[in-house]
Amino acid sequence: MSSRAAWVGLALLAACTADAPLSDLERGAAYVSDPAYRRAALERSLVAPDNGYSALRLERYTEASWGALPVWNPRARPVLVSDLGGPVPNPGVDWEPLDLDVPWEEAALSALGARAFSAYPAQVEPALLMALTDADAPARFGLWVDGDRVGGLVWAETPGGVQPAFSCASCHAIPRDDGPGLVLGAPNHAIDFGALLDASHSAHTSAGRWGPGRVDVTPDDVDNPTVIADLRAVRFQRDLNRAATISNDLMALTVRLETAVITNSREAVRPPRELAFALAWYLWGLGDALPALPADGAGAAVFARECGRCHLPPGLAGPPVALAAVATDPTVGESPWRGTGAYQTTSLRGVARRGRLLAGGAIDSLERLLDPDRVDGGHRYGQTLDDADRASLLAVMRDLR
Ligand code: HEC
Ligand code: HEC
Repeated sequence: MSSRAAWVGLALLAACTADAPLSDLERGAAYVSDPAYRRAALERSLVAPDNGYSALRLERYTEASWGALPVWNPRARPVLVSDLGGPVPNPGVDWEPLDLDVPWEEAALSALGARAFSAYPAQVEPALLMALTDADAPARFGLWVDGDRVGGLVWAETPGGVQPAFSCASCHAIPRDDGPGLVLGAPNHAIDFGALLDASHSAHTSAGRWGPGRVDVTPDDVDNPTVIADLRAVRFQRDLNRAATISNDLMALTVRLETAVITNSREAVRPPRELAFALAWYLWGLGDALPALPADGAGAAVFARECGRCHLPPGLAGPPVALAAVATDPTVGESPWRGTGAYQTTSLRGVARRGRLLAGGAIDSLERLLDPDRVDGGHRYGQTLDDADRASLLAVMRDLR
């Protein structure tokens, strides 16, 4: 038995013998080792069992179907600035799968999740070659450069040869604005995946109209690009996905991540379950670093009066709101694939670092959202504030970063 299996076994043994509710890590161990436990977590999490997202999972999230897929943890290495303009590299001695053999402990699992966030080839995408043709190419498609790393991209060894892949950090990290390094989990609202797809096919398709920071994530034949999520706030969301598809908790998030890698591979592979849990556990911890709304002061008072009934403190998130009530562009929420009839009341923890707001990304700043003269875009809350109240509200919101 590998030491990893031993750790998982130990944690599960503890879970079975105690009467106390399971700890988070015991839940993670049960998810890894017990098919009935993870199936129950999936079923519990699906808000609308009849939409396409839920129906596919209810059909295939079984041991015989997706559970039997080969595990994806290929030899890989980061895409480096020195690769730009060069040939696709060959696997070398420094190419490694992620080392999953870590103790089943909080710090070790967080560290594994953090590594995986930027190093795991979450989605192989040949079109990414278009962003690697020359030194200026990454910027043309909104990919960041951090030190020698390009956009969190990874070269992965596949049965069909070496391919470029997104890591989570490609879409879910941005350069710091106060020095070198990245804000991990913050949405990359500059990345233009649709433009990459069009460039690689030398075509003008609907993807070319998504625009930066948006991806059409649903196979529903509807043109409904969705804004990239701020994962630093994921623990605070009551539901996952803008369409509020999944009732959120640590297990629901774990299963969401596992099944996303499966569907992004067109159901060819599945991620190691230890890795899915480590990623979820890592993301769960990111919320700790996000500032909260101040307890008192003028801005906090305006927030409590105008916003707090939906964006509930301390997470500044809340139950979903019917599409017609929030009145923002309903296209994302109407998806027959992910839709539930309502939008996630998105957490505002971290909101000041987001380049695009609302489910379809229609609004580009807090100032614009609260602009009294704005008539388009819905979400009409706070637009009738007087200048002083608006200024104090904006001041506290700008500190939510
Ligand atoms: C190509 C860009 C892209 C990549 C790569 C990507 N995501 Fe996302 N992610 C998105 C978009 C777009 C959404 C919004 C989907 C929605 O709301 O329905 C999203 C939403 C999410 C959500 C839901 C958050 C919420 O609050 O509702 C989670 C969790 C998430 N991503 C985790 C990850 C992880 C972990 C990885 C790496 C394994 C990853 N994503 C890779 C684009 C991406
Ligand atoms: C009736 C409930 C409700 C009230 C009241 C409300 N919001 Fe919202 N808010 C929502 C919902 C639902 C969304 C998501 C809409 C969408 O995705 O299109 C949202 C989205 C947002 C966003 C965009 C977040 C993101 O990352 O996309 C901001 C910013 C925001 N609200 C700020 C405020 C402020 C400031 C107030 C008070 C002036 C307020 N809200 C009042 C329900 C509400």
